[in-house]
Amino acid sequence: MESDPQLRALAARLAAAGRLSVLTGAGVSAASGVPTFRGEGGLWRTFRAEDLATPEAFARNPRLVWEWYDWRRQIVAACAPNAAHQVLARWGRRPGFTLVTQNVDGLHELAGSPDVARFHGSIWEVRCRDWCAGSPPSWTDRTVPLPVLPPPCPHCGGIVRPNVVWFGETIDPRVFARALAATSCDVFLTVGTSALVYPAAGLVHEASRQGAFTAEINIERTPASDALDLALQGKVEEVLVALDRLMEAATAPEP
Ligand code: APR
Repeated sequence: MESDPQLRALAARLAAAGRLSVLTGAGVSAASGVPTFRGEGGLWRTFRAEDLATPEAFARNPRLVWEWYDWRRQIVAACAPNAAHQVLARWGRRPGFTLVTQNVDGLHELAGSPDVARFHGSIWEVRCRDWCAGSPPSWTDRTVPLPVLPPPCPHCGGIVRPNVVWFGETIDPRVFARALAATSCDVFLTVGTSALVYPAAGLVHEASRQGAFTAEINIERTPASDALDLALQGKVEEVLVALDRLMEAATAPEP
């Protein structure tokens, strides 16, 4: 794989980039055993993410939505970061590096990535559905499985919801601002995302508009592929390791 000219070209770009931004999606956690939202294994029972990850679905049937999250939380709790998370955690020590993730599983943080911009929130945080006066804006709850679904709000007796961004909801403005700032970079790389869900999917195009070199790594082509400078097909956990090795070789001092 490391002799692939496209891979070598991307490694050279990455090694030389003063400002490098990476956007990750569910494909990065696939090798850890976390199901993706689309494609093979994307359905839970008969439901698509779009049927469950909405405020309307939660209003209609909070228990059902929580059953899905409780199921995902149990799976993720048993998963460990994979080689892709580890490479990105290493790159996180470079100055000028920003990691933006759509993933809510927390595996980047577990691998040691600092300052992850969590575009869609965290599956390990909850908040009172009604933002009751007695409760903090959100809090961590790592209990798996949850004993009662939907879990009660300890502050008002109402119910809590996952502190994630659902379809139709706005991204936390501070996180959005960080992600937008990351589009001003030398290289913007998207990895393991279907590039279907906006506004996250728009970040790479904004980076391109600002003059960044843009690339994606995915096992298949995506709706973004044609607009990017480079679309590499492959498993992210393998391609990132190969890129990392090539970059190290490129920056190693001469013997
Ligand atoms: N290596 C590289 N790519 C992979 C791998 C792998 N090992 N496994 C899967 N993929 C790719 C798939 O080809 C697909 O394009 O990862 C992508 C996963 O796509 P989605 O399931 O749509 O995940 P994502 O893009 O993160 O979804 C965006 O949608 O449901 C919402 O909020 C949820 O954050 C999520 C958002």
